[in-house]
Parts: sequence; C-alpha cells; structure tokens
Amino acid sequence: MSWTRHLRPQLADLVAYDVPPADASFARMHANECAEPWPEHVMDAVAEAVRGVELGRYPDTSGRGLRALLGERLGCEASRIVLGNGSDEIISTLITTLSGGGGHLVIPTPTFVMYRHSASVVGMPVTEVPTTARFELDVDAMADALPGAALCFLARPNNPTGNLWDAATIAALAARFSETVFVIDEAYAAYAPDASMWSPTLPDNVVYMNTLSKVGGAALRLGYCVAAPALAAELDKVRHPYNISATTLCIAQTLLARFGDEQAAMLERSRAARDRLVALLSSLEEVTVYPSASNLVLARLHPPERAAALVAHLREHHVLIKDVSKTPALRGCVRASVGTSEELDRLEAGLASFSRST
Ligand SMILES: Cc1ncc(COP(=O)(O)O)c(C=O)c1O
Repeated sequence: MSWTRHLRPQLADLVAYDVPPADASFARMHANECAEPWPEHVMDAVAEAVRGVELGRYPDTSGRGLRALLGERLGCEASRIVLGNGSDEIISTLITTLSGGGGHLVIPTPTFVMYRHSASVVGMPVTEVPTTARFELDVDAMADALPGAALCFLARPNNPTGNLWDAATIAALAARFSETVFVIDEAYAAYAPDASMWSPTLPDNVVYMNTLSKVGGAALRLGYCVAAPALAAELDKVRHPYNISATTLCIAQTLLARFGDEQAAMLERSRAARDRLVALLSSLEEVTVYPSASNLVLARLHPPERAAALVAHLREHHVLIKDVSKTPALRGCVRASVGTSEELDRLEAGLASFSRST
C-alpha cells in the first residue's frame, strides 16, 4: 500500500499540460499570444507602477480595483465579475462549482483542450460533439447532447480552428437549454472586432469569459468572467482568496486604465499580420488553409505526415508552430499564431526551404 491508492482514478488517463520553454531566439508562433511588444514608454510606466507594490502585504482578496475598472468598461456591476489566474482558473472554478448535480460537460470538438482536462480532473463526464467538416457547430448533435448538461463551453473564435461560431445559433441553444450554463469564451475576440456576444443583459445561464492572455498580457495570468449575480456569488466561494497577485493587479490596471490606445495599435498590427500569415501558409503546396477570425491559423497538409515534418523543419530554423495533427479531426493539421513582422520573415524563409526539400 502506498499513497498512490488515494489518487483520483481519472488522473491515470491524464497528461500534465506542458509546453517546453523557448527563449526569444525562437520565433514563437505556437502559443497564440499577442506577439507585438508594448512600447518602451509603457514598460517604463509599468516598472514605475510595480515599484509601488507593497511586497509584504496581501493583495485585495478579489481584485476589487480591477473589477471596478472592468465593470466600467463592460457596463455591468463589478460584483458580477470574477477574476481568475488566467481563464484556465475560471474554467476549473466553473466546473467545480457546477459539479454537484451529476450533470455532464458538453463541448464541440476540436476545441480548447483545458475544458476537457479540467472536467476530467474532477470526474465530470464530458460529451464531445464533433463539429462539421468545416468546423462549424453541428446544431442537431449539440441539441442531442445537451439535455442534463451542467455546462457547455463555446470558444468564440475557437481554438485551434480559428473560426467564429454563429451567435444566433448559440443564443438559441442557451434559450432552449436553460438549465445548462453556457460559457462564451471570447479569449480571441479582439481579433474579430464587432463579433462579440457580450451584453450586460445576457441570460442568467450564460457566462461571458475573457482573458488578457491574447491581447498583450499572457505573462500576467489574468482571466475574468461575468456571470449572473447568484452564480458569481457561488463562484466566489470556490475561488481561492487572493488568487490574483498584487503585481498582476497593478500591471493590469496600469495597462487598461492608461494604455488602451497603445494596445489597440498592437492589436491592429496583429490583425494585419494575420493576412500575411495566411498568405505564407497558403504558399505551401498541397495545403488547405482555414479562414481565421483569430490570431491563429489552422492549415491542413496533404499527405498528413507532412504536418509533423513541417513542424520539425521549422523548429530547426528556430520557428515554433504547433503540431495538432494527433487530434483525429485535425489529421495533417498545424496551427500557427501571428508573429511580429520579423518572426513572419523567419517563417517565410523556413517555409521556402521546406517546399524545396519536400
Ligand atoms: C479558447 C481559450 N480559452 C482560454 C484559454 C486560456 O487562457 P488563459 O491564458 O487566460 O488561461 C486559451 C488559451 O490558449 C484558449 O485558447
């Protein structure tokens, strides 16, 4: 007998989420970050603000200052906003909070892997509903899977496919299955301007979720959700107190309150660079490049074995993209996120030599 007998049985089938470290000598186009750097004067202001953080003191238990700022931006009460250490933490907080009634999780597939992972950790059953060949929601199959579901996560735009599911379809599903909490995950919404489903008057069973990770703040680990007041209060019981560090709160408030214009310019450049990324991937032979409303682009290579070969080839050229080809619906697929123009230059060179070598 050893301590292992106390392990949750579900852990046996899970693999820890891990991404090997990659320094700035790599063109890092594998993690869907915003690659555009903040201007120097912003970094100076951030450094100055961080000097004021009292390292010996706890931060606010629930990030009141930042929640107030977000509430003003969103036009909703700050009490409805729950902050997370990345939206990853919000995902698991939602799952823990809503795992009491034996209900399952419904997710379209392929989608963001942490929904399934976090549910599996606590033993919440997961029903994965395959999307159509073009990665659209299969509405009838979703409707078949939803009765009795506790939760449904819908990433809009979706990762790793980059497409944007129809808002009216989602609203209709949420209206029909009112006992299920639908989470609209808009991690990539900044790359699909005007397509957001956010409204201060979302129905009670719809949670809006977002993160700073894709808009220049991945290092901060800051996600948030907006829920109906009663649900937000329950989430707050599960959330650890002080879950957002004082430095993160300080930097996020500085960036959001003072440097929105700089951030908007960074995102504008990223959206423009997406067109170049699409063009570069399209220049490969025997490739299908899927339309993207996000900062990531999915490409399917033919024959499928070329996906792993391309990823390995680019790595040799110090360019990182993600091999997603092991997911059955993504056979032959790679996912690349938008880089800086210098990173895209390196991708261009790497792709050119790949084409010559295959
Ligand atoms: C759709 C989606 N939601 C949430 C996340 C998690 O983001 P965070 O860095 O805020 O934990 C990701 C990360 O890649 C994502 O792709």
